[in-house]
Amino acid sequence: MIRINENYLKLKASYLFSDIAKRVSAYQEANPEKPIIRLGIGDVTEPLPQACQKAFHAAIDDQGTREAFHGYGPEQGYAFLRDAIAKNDFKDRGADIDASEIFVSDGAKCDSGNIQEIFGDDIRIAVPDPVYPVYVDTNVMAGRTGNNVEGRYEGFVYLDSTPENGYVPEIPSEKVDLVYLCFPNNPTGATATKEQLKAWVDYAKDCGAIILYDAAYVAFIRDASLPQSIYEIEGARDVAIEFRSFSKNAGFTGTRCAYTVVPKSLKAQDASGKEHCVHALWNRRHCTKFNGVSYPVQKAAEAVYSEEGAAEVKALTDFYLENAKIVKAAMQDLGFDCIGGEDSPYIWINAKRPSWDFFDLLLNEAGVVCTPGAGFGTCGEGHIRISAFNSRSKVVEAMERIKAALA
Ligand code: MLT
Repeated sequence: MIRINENYLKLKASYLFSDIAKRVSAYQEANPEKPIIRLGIGDVTEPLPQACQKAFHAAIDDQGTREAFHGYGPEQGYAFLRDAIAKNDFKDRGADIDASEIFVSDGAKCDSGNIQEIFGDDIRIAVPDPVYPVYVDTNVMAGRTGNNVEGRYEGFVYLDSTPENGYVPEIPSEKVDLVYLCFPNNPTGATATKEQLKAWVDYAKDCGAIILYDAAYVAFIRDASLPQSIYEIEGARDVAIEFRSFSKNAGFTGTRCAYTVVPKSLKAQDASGKEHCVHALWNRRHCTKFNGVSYPVQKAAEAVYSEEGAAEVKALTDFYLENAKIVKAAMQDLGFDCIGGEDSPYIWINAKRPSWDFFDLLLNEAGVVCTPGAGFGTCGEGHIRISAFNSRSKVVEAMERIKAALA
């Protein structure tokens, strides 16, 4: 009989958010009369901006005519979108990124999971703890780790994010080849300053490492002193890949559009020490395994950069940030230490008990779904994450229910 990839056997039985979904379904079956409020997975609830809707509709109309019809598009994305991204997200902020270095895709989850394919099997990898599970699981699947021993896979260098370091991991004392960083952070909501990112860029330069920088939540940054892209840091072009998404800023979780920046100056070597252009490798992989995001979706994404679209995105993210403020204030009133929620849609809460216990308590007593911190790594134990993605009335009601449940 055909054999399986046994690395999959090292993984936990199911992905964190599938685990949570199963517990929630079981609760709903047992308590059909009790409506639940979801503040778990970071899935948006508010409709697409009007500007995106209009562009989407117009592009569908294009597809209905012989003259304006689009078949396969460029795998890397249409020039209209890549140009808008390069200008608005990078050049206007002083970051030297060219449109040709942008790869449009259907999600930052897919890209941050797939990117490891272009690197060697025996590279040394540093991952934060707590961490978005995709970075870890995709490397486990690829066979770059040993077994999971007490919540940590053998072979990874874990970068603890704790109250002591303000949830921004310190530079490791050892040399690694690949580092995953995410700011504003999922799950803690922490942000990194320019000085902190500069230290990471310098470290990567020193040890010939590449930083995989996940900036999916950048639209929530309000503190003007914080960097929005790692490419705002001098030298980052030579050491970093950045992932961005239209999911959380413009509500594209169900529409699907994201992009990855792979600068042409980024190099990695083969076993003989010969240098190769990482952009060319990712381009090869992307063109082989991906056929581009649909034309209407890219037109909708382009509208994010119009005057109307930008104003709507600002209003949408302001709305979720106000939710975050309500959640944080309520949890602090209840005596919990919290971080995040200011330049981020996530609030990270010290639950003062095992995280799954608090998850169960909030689900069973308040009908509120959160995300247990332990699902993000051993440093997440004792914490929960509450997401600000829901309607105002549901967020307010969720906090009232939690207050009543804990009274
Ligand atoms: C999360 O809740 O951590 C995110 O929604 C996951 C994702 O964006 O894939």
